[in-house]
Amino acid sequence: MHTVGAAGVEIPALGFGTWQLKGAECEKMVTAALGAGFRHIDTAEMYDNEEAVGRGLKAAKLPRDEVFLTSKVWSSNLRDGQLQHAAEVSLKRLGLDYFDLYLIHWPSNDTSTREAIGALNEVRTRGLARAVGVANFPVKLIEEAVEASEAPLATNQVEYHPYLSQAPVLDACRRHGLSLTAYCPLARGKMVDDTVIGEIAEIHGRTPAQVTLRWLIQQDGVIAIPKTGNPDRLEENLGAADFTLTDEEMSRISALTQPDGRIVRMSGEPEWDT
Ligand SMILES: NC(=O)c1ccc[n+]([C@@H]2O[C@H](COP(=O)([O-])OP(=O)(O)OC[C@H]3O[C@@H](n4cnc5c(N)ncnc54)[C@H](OP(=O)(O)O)[C@@H]3O)[C@@H](O)[C@H]2O)c1
Repeated sequence: MHTVGAAGVEIPALGFGTWQLKGAECEKMVTAALGAGFRHIDTAEMYDNEEAVGRGLKAAKLPRDEVFLTSKVWSSNLRDGQLQHAAEVSLKRLGLDYFDLYLIHWPSNDTSTREAIGALNEVRTRGLARAVGVANFPVKLIEEAVEASEAPLATNQVEYHPYLSQAPVLDACRRHGLSLTAYCPLARGKMVDDTVIGEIAEIHGRTPAQVTLRWLIQQDGVIAIPKTGNPDRLEENLGAADFTLTDEEMSRISALTQPDGRIVRMSGEPEWDT
């Protein structure tokens, strides 16, 4: 599988999402994902599963430097001092010495971007994270974060799938050297019932999930982190890495965007670009 280089780290283009996986199921699925070939795992302090993710990693018995682990600090912990403490506690739960990538999970209306990004940079300079970045940042906040950050930012993790265009955000990420990590890459499973995706899948002898994930990771600088609790779907999702869509198919899928395609909504969310 190809990697996406940003801020000095190489991020595997497909990662395994763990939101909603908990306890023994999470542990088992993380080990199974690594066994199937995933080398990138996505968690967060808010998912309440970091201990289980850590146990799953340990059980897979891979050298630490072969796995790319991302976690995120929740938006109520962004003050200087609080954020660094939250990072230490997350690492302890994971049983790790460092994150490969540590992200601000959501911007906060209470803490300035400058303060949060300063604290995030300290996590990196103290060696607790190889790289740092943000999530759910619209263009205006990306510009603020890039301006405030001493270290280059590696990614902006946002909702992205064929029903939600992220053209302005992707453009800003590329301009500033960030990758874009697509969460909800399968639109929480909705993409597998789409007629156009189904037609293209049939042409390639692939599944709709593979075509959707392929559309994402075939775009320059884009990473996708599908979640599944079904071990049989791990290899299927990894299969997105080894075929190619034509330019015309890429455009047909891009045209599926919908004005109300956004799934994840939060109270106090920033003003989105699309
Ligand atoms: N930064 C943020 O604010 C944020 C927000 C949301 C999510 N995330 C991250 O992004 C990850 C992915 O997002 P998500 O979990 O919300 O949505 P998703 O990956 O788009 O969709 C997951 C859903 O798709 C189904 N699915 C997975 N593979 C499939 C396949 N091959 N065929 C058919 N259905 C399939 C899963 O069902 P089964 O489990 O039954 O297979 C599950 O219901 C999360 O786990 C989390 O790590 C980040």
